[in-house]
Amino acid sequence: MSQSQPAVTVDDVSIPLLGFGTWQLEPADARRMVAEALRIGYRHIDTARIYNNEEGVGQGIRDSGVDRADIFLTTKIWVEDFADGDLQRAAAGSVERLGLTPDLLLLHWPRPTPSFVETLGALNDARARGLTRSIGLSNFPSAQFREAQSVSDAWLLTNQVEYHPYLSLRPLLATAADLGSSITAWSPLAQGRIADDPVIADIGRAHGKTPGQVTLRWLIQQDVIAIPRTSKESRAAENFDIFDFVLSDEEMLRIHALARPDGRIGDWIDPAFKWDQD
Ligand SMILES: NC(=O)c1ccc[n+]([C@@H]2O[C@H](COP(=O)([O-])OP(=O)(O)OC[C@H]3O[C@@H](n4cnc5c(N)ncnc54)[C@H](OP(=O)(O)O)[C@@H]3O)[C@@H](O)[C@H]2O)c1
Repeated sequence: MSQSQPAVTVDDVSIPLLGFGTWQLEPADARRMVAEALRIGYRHIDTARIYNNEEGVGQGIRDSGVDRADIFLTTKIWVEDFADGDLQRAAAGSVERLGLTPDLLLLHWPRPTPSFVETLGALNDARARGLTRSIGLSNFPSAQFREAQSVSDAWLLTNQVEYHPYLSLRPLLATAADLGSSITAWSPLAQGRIADDPVIADIGRAHGKTPGQVTLRWLIQQDVIAIPRTSKESRAAENFDIFDFVLSDEEMLRIHALARPDGRIGDWIDPAFKWDQD
C-alpha cells in the first residue's frame, strides 16, 4: 500500500483516509470516474453489490493501470444475503463482478435476523475462503457494533456510517476507538448541502479552500475515513486537494457546532435497533 497519503491502521491493515464513493454512479460512469480518481491519486474505492456497478468499478481499476496492491477496495453484502451460505455466495458474486478480491467486505445494514452469530460466522467464513482480505460493518449503532465484534473471530476494521457537519457522532466515535476499530463517513459532504454553508465557506476563505475541501479536511483530521462521491472529474480533483492545509482547533469546533437533531439524511435502520443518542 502506498504510504504517500494519510491512512489509519487497524489490525495491521492500512486504510487511506480519503476514498472515492460510487453510490448512484451508473456502471459506465463508475468505470470512468474510478479510473479518473485513481489517476488523480485516490487509493481507496467504495462500492456495494446494491449499487449495481461492481463490474464498472473493477473495469475502472484495471483501466487506471494503478497497481492493484496500491488500492484499497471495499464492497458490501446486501441485507437479503445475511444467512450462512447466502452470504458466502454473495461474496463470491462480488469477487466475480469486480474481477478482484476486495480488501474489505462490509455488512451493509444491521438486521436482527439471521442472528449476529450466524451472519458474523458467515462473514468470517467468507474471509477464511479468501473472498475478502478483511471484514467490517456499515450502519451499526454502538450496541450492535460491540455485539458484532464480540461474536467475530476477525477484527472488524471499520463501521461505515453517515457522518458530516450536520450530524454529531460522538458516542459512535468513542465506541470505535474503544474497540480499536475505525469510522468511515458516508455522505461526507451531506450530499452536497455543505456547498451553501456560510460557516464552512467562511473557514474556506481563510485557507483558500472550497466548502467541500474544508468538510473533508474536518473529517480526516478526526482520523475518520471519508468517501466523497462525484460524477465530475474536476470535483474529484477538488476533493482530493486537502492534504496541504490544517484546520485549527477553533475551526474544528465551529464545524462541530453545526450538528443538529434533524441532520440525518439517509435512514434505513431496522426498527429493532436505535441510533446512539448524543
Ligand atoms: N454504507 C451506506 O449505507 C452508504 C450510504 C450512502 C453512501 N455510501 C457511500 O458513501 C459515498 C458518499 O456518499 P454520498 O454519495 O451519499 O454523498 P456525498 O459524497 O456526501 O455527496 C455527493 C454529492 O455531492 C456533490 N459533490 C461532490 N463533491 C462536491 C463538492 N466538492 N462540492 C459540492 N458538492 C459536491 C455530488 O455532485 P456531483 O456528482 O454533481 O459532483 C453529489 O451530488 C457513496 O457514494 C457511497 O460509496 C454508503
